[in-house]
Amino acid sequence: MGVILLVLTSLLVIFIFSFLKVAYDTISCYFLTPRRIKKIMEKQGVRGPKPRPLTGNILDVASFLSQSTSKDMDQITHDTVSRLLPHYVAWSKQYGKRFIFWNGVEPRLCISETEMIKELLTKYSTKSGKSWLQREGTKHFIGRGLLMANGSDWSHQRHIAAPSFMGERLKSNAGLMVECTKNMLQSLRNAVESGLTEVEIGEYMSRVTADIISRTQFGSSYEKGKQIFHLLTELQSLCHQATRHLCLPGSRFFPSNYNRQIKSKKMEVDRLLLEIIQSRKDCVEIGRSSSYGDDLLGMLLNEMERKRSDGFNINLQLVMDECKTFFFAGHETTSLLLTWTVMLLASNPCWQEKVRAEVSEVCNGETPSIDHLPKFNLVSKNLPILSKSVPFTLNHAKQRAIILLAVKSMV
Ligand code: HEM
Repeated sequence: MGVILLVLTSLLVIFIFSFLKVAYDTISCYFLTPRRIKKIMEKQGVRGPKPRPLTGNILDVASFLSQSTSKDMDQITHDTVSRLLPHYVAWSKQYGKRFIFWNGVEPRLCISETEMIKELLTKYSTKSGKSWLQREGTKHFIGRGLLMANGSDWSHQRHIAAPSFMGERLKSNAGLMVECTKNMLQSLRNAVESGLTEVEIGEYMSRVTADIISRTQFGSSYEKGKQIFHLLTELQSLCHQATRHLCLPGSRFFPSNYNRQIKSKKMEVDRLLLEIIQSRKDCVEIGRSSSYGDDLLGMLLNEMERKRSDGFNINLQLVMDECKTFFFAGHETTSLLLTWTVMLLASNPCWQEKVRAEVSEVCNGETPSIDHLPKFNLVSKNLPILSKSVPFTLNHAKQRAIILLAVKSMV
């Protein structure tokens, strides 16, 4: 009897202790820490719009955005910041070059002084990373892949992925890119010949970039890669709403429709990825192939087999997360850049003529190849102007403060 009483008392103490710890962590995360950060910022003269409990300034941002995007643009303008980040424009006018606003209980510190941005990116790069909300919101989408990795994990993962960014690897994929582009142009031609007078060019650009990424990532399994791409696009739009759904304490554990949808799509993506991985492994095991291949997936699988001296080993989940990350990071960016470029060329016929003349002079009737690239002056010199379409980057500094770096030239 005495023993049972002792066990029950211990269990009760553990329960009360755990309950108090969870209660304290919740209060600290949702009230004490935000209040402390707000005070520290105010002492340094950094102010911003008043946050509401739990949601911070999310509703203000949503209302700014719904106003700025309620109508189509009257004319094409490069001032995209006031349309896409209207809260930034309004608050920087009201509170100055440095201000703070709240994404739920996470602060976003906005800075626009070039020297400070440089200092942050050089001196404090190792202390920055992605915030809890960012990582939690994309957990079922790109997981702990490179884009969401922090600290030493990021360094290891970056080192492993480095070969994918090297010139030689990109060159070896040039043939694939040309082939995919030709297919896309043919389907565009077919659409025009069938009598269509208007086409949604963004869809074509999205398709060609998905096609290129599927082939460079998954090689021969690229048909399955395209299925993964469709599911990932759906997952991405669900994860866009994550901040709203993660505001309430513990909401990520609720069996809500939103959480169920995300989990089932994630499981479907992982299932398809596992099928591709398993078929690669089978090929090696039965001796049909001597390695996992030299595309991104092959490279990651080879890495998984290796025992690294630094003790950082990638597991199956990380291989899948990395594949999803590259898909996401490389797809929408390039597709939007191409769409924006085509839109600018369409609205500037004289530039179309100049570019067309350069292409026919450089290529001289041949299919464009990687060797032609250095000879393009007009196209490469004008790319920096187009690259302005990347307005900001997000980093998470120590103590859950987030820095929003705005590219000044955009404003
Ligand atoms: C026009 C094209 C592109 C633009 C404008 C662009 C822009 C960016 C930006 C702004 C970041 C930093 C994001 C952050 O840290 O929050 C980033 C990171 C990244 N991008 Fe791109 N990107 C482009 C194309 C690509 C392509 C084609 C790939 C690969 C297939 C790619 C893979 C990545 C990866 C893996 C990261 C994470 C890097 C790291 O954290 O070390 N990107 N990109």
